Amino acid sequence: MSLEHGGNINAAARRFGIPVQRWMDLSTGISPWSWPVPLVPQHIWQTLPYPDGELESAAADYYCCDRAAILGVPGSQYALQHIPALLRRGRVAIPRRGYAEHRLAWRQAGHQVVEYVDGAMLHDLVLAGRVDHALVINPNNPTAELLSSQQLQETHQRLGASGGWLVVDEAFADTGQDTSLASLCPVPGLIVYRSVGKFFGLAGIRLGFLLAPASLCAQLQSAMPPWSLSHPARWIGAAALRDRAWQEQQRQRLQRAGRQWLQFLRDAVPRLRFAATDLFASGAGEAAYCEALFQALARRAVLSRHFEAIAGYSVLRFGLPPAGVENVARLLREAVEECECESP
Ligand SMILES: Cc1ncc(COP(=O)(O)O)c(C=O)c1O
Repeated sequence: MSLEHGGNINAAARRFGIPVQRWMDLSTGISPWSWPVPLVPQHIWQTLPYPDGELESAAADYYCCDRAAILGVPGSQYALQHIPALLRRGRVAIPRRGYAEHRLAWRQAGHQVVEYVDGAMLHDLVLAGRVDHALVINPNNPTAELLSSQQLQETHQRLGASGGWLVVDEAFADTGQDTSLASLCPVPGLIVYRSVGKFFGLAGIRLGFLLAPASLCAQLQSAMPPWSLSHPARWIGAAALRDRAWQEQQRQRLQRAGRQWLQFLRDAVPRLRFAATDLFASGAGEAAYCEALFQALARRAVLSRHFEAIAGYSVLRFGLPPAGVENVARLLREAVEECECESP
């Protein structure tokens, strides 16, 4: 089964009959500013990537965790897709709205999914012993809900007491380190997924990390085909993770751009209720309105990410605009006006 994801400009071009080059892609949470990849040395292209520990050391330093708790994977997608099969079958709490690959992976691995709407509901489920494991996306994509590290640690302790796991997807956590659980790893019962795709704007190299007890890292590693991480991905990833000056500049730039984007969207689309991370803003509203706005934007070659309706409400997610707010402001206002004219 394959799920729909953001960033598929080719599909949008076919669907709306607009050439690929004309689209403005706001449908992902990938930073519009990427770590500037230098010329990759010839031997990196030429030789097989036998791990030399350099990538894992750079990652351990960056995530402030133990070197033994880290496994590089071809995108955090790889880890989140394969880890559920390595855990004891049970009932797992999964956000009703969240990156849908998690639900698919846990179901396919034979777990029973118990949905939660928000952090408060997760807290109740765990307290009442109604789940064995919990999956938290922190901050959540697309709702942008952010749980405190205190709540996560309490959840971890409660689940751990009966041998359960807390699994935290921190794909969008790079700008808000204080809620991250990465630095606690390794600790029994805790798994953290990290991505190099979003904050570093390097989704194309397919690089992410599993942070988990060493035995689980070893289990996943032994199931991976040899050389699963390409040599350029290992080389680029290690250099990006060590570039502290760029990371600081990127953090500030994203925080500033994220604030402006959220403010603009709140003003421009008052019929949606917005919440945001530094990498995207999501607006919740009536399903018919979201669908109409998605279409009106697409006719103007602006691709947003439209999430399915749940109980009559949908979500439109908008990644940061590549060339600033001004560039997209007119198109967004036009699309909103068109939807107002269409509504009864
Ligand atoms: C919440 C979340 N986790 C994980 C992923 C997978 O990202 P990657 O495999 O590029 O690290 C995505 C991709 O969009 C995501 O939204």
